[in-house]
Amino acid sequence: MTDEPLVLGIETSCDETGVGIVRGRTLLADAVASSVDAHARFGGVVPEVASRAHLEAMVPTLDRACETAGVALDDVDAIAVTSGPGLAGALLVGVAAAKSLAFALGKPLYGVNHLAAHVAVDQLEHGPLPDPCLALLVSGGHSSLLRVADVTGDVVPLGATIDDAAGEAFDKVARLLGLPFPGGPHIDRMAREGDQVAIDFPRGLTSRRDLERHRFDFSFSGLKTAVARWVEARERSGEPVPVADVAASFQEAVCDVLVRKALDAAAAEGIDDLLIGGGVAANSRLRALAGERAAAVGVRVRVPRPGLCTDNGAMVAALGSSMVAAGRPPSSLDLPADSSLPVTEVLAG
Ligand code: KG4
Ligand code: ZN
Repeated sequence: MTDEPLVLGIETSCDETGVGIVRGRTLLADAVASSVDAHARFGGVVPEVASRAHLEAMVPTLDRACETAGVALDDVDAIAVTSGPGLAGALLVGVAAAKSLAFALGKPLYGVNHLAAHVAVDQLEHGPLPDPCLALLVSGGHSSLLRVADVTGDVVPLGATIDDAAGEAFDKVARLLGLPFPGGPHIDRMAREGDQVAIDFPRGLTSRRDLERHRFDFSFSGLKTAVARWVEARERSGEPVPVADVAASFQEAVCDVLVRKALDAAAAEGIDDLLIGGGVAANSRLRALAGERAAAVGVRVRVPRPGLCTDNGAMVAALGSSMVAAGRPPSSLDLPADSSLPVTEVLAG
């Protein structure tokens, strides 16, 4: 027996119904049911479809997680749930499920921040987080640089995207190239056969003037437009579109800016540990480029394995477990789902 807490985490902020179970920092189960196929033909997540899918998947996913972990719901010491940010209707399903469980089982409830959970999950793989660390969070909904002194209570945003999120840019460019949704993994795969210097796509918010106001912010909408124009011009001239070269050059533009700004922020903050999280952290070029450039300036890089980068319940359980370990007071049973929960609010309600 161990006295480390057994924590169950529920994630429903977007299109993945995730239920994870951890004991302390040990991952016992990570059950995920995705509704991604139901959204594919729309080229993006349809909130109503996602909410309904969460409702249908919740109980089977809970059962699967308990079975994998070999635990009964009654054994659980605390319930954690993503209370925001995310799609309001989707979040509501997870929050309602978590409240019901907490109430019925008489266990404490922790409503946690999705972005902080993307950071906390790395502890399951690489142990306690360095204090402080710089987190680059890149997903379908967010692109942020955060200074994390304590993932249970001290997260300071340094910069964020001013338009599209990095994953959104991958998804939109993939669509333009005729690749399926979600596009990130397809661009990643196509790019391996392409030339990353074939086309010189713009690096958003890196000019001297932009850096004055937006040193640690990102912008990907200009890049997306540049790719669209380039592809249109090709099509108009009747020449074939070199999909692999476009994918590789686009991916290089995104990764170049992400890594450049993350390392600049690390230097400015005097931080030697960079943690990359969120769905786009699964990108092979981002992982390689960050590793190379960080090593050159003496910064250590931590990136969870790809399955823990995309949305899952284990990340929520990991943050819940950190909350319990830090002795944070639980959330109240009238915890709201907050679609725009600020990243500074790591523990809600
Ligand atoms: O974190 P996540 O699962 O959900 C959100 O919180 O948004 O991130 C999903 C995003 C999608 O935009 C997807 O295209 C992107 O992560 N993604 C990738 C890769 N795998 C997933 N982007 C680039 N390369 C990948 N290998
Ligand atoms: Zn996410």
